[in-house]
Amino acid sequence: MKYKELFAQELYVACDEQLTKEEIIRRIEKPKHEELGDYAFPCFDLARVQRTAPNKIATNMATRIYTPIFEKVEAVGPYINVFLEKGLVASEVVKKILEEGNYYGSSNIGDGGSVTIDLSSPNIAKPFSMGHLRSTVIGNALALILEKSGYRPVRINHLGDWGTQFGKLITAYRKWGNETQVRQNTIKELLALYIKFHEEAELTPALLDEGRKAFKSLEEGDPEAVALWKWFREESLKEFNRIYELMGITFDSTNGEAFYNNKMQRVVELLEKKNLLTESKGAMVVEVNDDTLPPCLIKKKDGATLYATRDLAAALYRYETYGFSQALYVVGNEQSLHFKQVFEVLKKMGYEWAEQMYHITFGMMLKDGKKMSTRKGKVVLLEEVLNNAIDLAKENINSKNPSLKNKQIIAEHIGVGAVLFHDLKNDRRNDIDFSLEDMLRVEGETGPYVQYTNARACSILRKGHFQKGEPFEQIKDKEAWPIITRLNEFPRTVERAAKEYDPSQVAKYVLELARSFNKYYGQIRILDDDTHLKARLQLVSAVSIVLTEGLRLLGLHAPEEM
Ligand code: ARG
Repeated sequence: MKYKELFAQELYVACDEQLTKEEIIRRIEKPKHEELGDYAFPCFDLARVQRTAPNKIATNMATRIYTPIFEKVEAVGPYINVFLEKGLVASEVVKKILEEGNYYGSSNIGDGGSVTIDLSSPNIAKPFSMGHLRSTVIGNALALILEKSGYRPVRINHLGDWGTQFGKLITAYRKWGNETQVRQNTIKELLALYIKFHEEAELTPALLDEGRKAFKSLEEGDPEAVALWKWFREESLKEFNRIYELMGITFDSTNGEAFYNNKMQRVVELLEKKNLLTESKGAMVVEVNDDTLPPCLIKKKDGATLYATRDLAAALYRYETYGFSQALYVVGNEQSLHFKQVFEVLKKMGYEWAEQMYHITFGMMLKDGKKMSTRKGKVVLLEEVLNNAIDLAKENINSKNPSLKNKQIIAEHIGVGAVLFHDLKNDRRNDIDFSLEDMLRVEGETGPYVQYTNARACSILRKGHFQKGEPFEQIKDKEAWPIITRLNEFPRTVERAAKEYDPSQVAKYVLELARSFNKYYGQIRILDDDTHLKARLQLVSAVSIVLTEGLRLLGLHAPEEM
């Protein structure tokens, strides 16, 4: 419910339209103390227009504001303070949530437009890094939030499955590879082969030539090279899929860089036709208009295409296939130069839709304040992290609630949820510190804290024999007010998160809602008083609906029992 807008409307009339509604909205404040009301409007600007003392204006205007939703309107110095009629507001909000269920908070700001979201995108035969984890988690939350806001998200896993490194890998495998070992432990073995290749190449530089040739034969479709590459890709994906499954994430497309192999020639031709290609030391480049950016490399001296060439082809393909209204790339800060170049080239090519492409950046995952090394065995580490979190959650269940049904699944929901929430609760652009203990704490700003709060709400509903669809009753406890105002903020929070590509707003929101609910729970014995029971259970149900939906938007499950 938009009570602030309602207040603005009243003020607009009361000041004889001397300010626009937007100007008024911008000036409305939230008083620091509850005793000062729910909204306040300072009259200084009107005082300037009217050449009258602000206090006088406040007193005057206050008498002209009247709607039943405001229980009190008062002038305090230069301010007009209004108090919402709590009973009425509470009824409206709780009723709406009970009626709408998990639809509550949905909007249509996206108007059905499709949004491609380039997320996760790990590199074949390499470990799944912490950066890829962040991209996966943030990208998935954005997809869910945008979907709730009326967009059609398209999740694309732009796998790093092409490039000269595959020539090296094929060469290394032919020389030193062992099929069984690669099958058993794909990423670890392939990484070891890749490292060995570089070590050996230091001693025998001719190997580099062999690697280049192998890549060339791969590009030309040599069946044996292609078969090896396909195999590396499939085995690597199997490992990645275990992680995606744990996190409950699926993709609409796993077309990686290789998919654009036969689509790059067209890009080169288009660039030629538009006279944008220039030669630089034998290579083909596009100069971009922005002087702070180096030219974008399209083709190397030997004719090989590059990462950027593939991203250009991918952008064209995505626009033609999905007709996106926005294209998002959820990729770490360190690639911002690359995306600036790609977007600039597309703009130079004359594509208006390039104005709707955004690099959604994020910071690094640190351990003890230092960058986490991406060199060895990270796939194991990441899966290990998730599995450790799940094990810890299971230990917790065993000590607190040993008779719980479906322990394994619930432990997975808590453990994985802890990792996800830890990533999403801060502004994505910040670096974050990796700490398993912090993630899993039940008291604090964690996923498990919110999940426990929801499970507590569900348990109250069970004990109170809450029935859905009963006639609505108005809540009388004044202690419930902070919960009501929070519940009322949910739709706007989701909207802001969608507009600003910022899942942390939803994470912070569910934390606050959980805190207000726990405070209420500490003050009121919900189940002890029959006369209020129905209204209270309806409030608890509304809280659980919104917590569950908020968690879902972040990619977390909300178990009803823990
Ligand atoms: N595979 C790349 C990496 O790990 C990320 C790809 C991001 N997406 C893109 N369209 N370039 O660095």
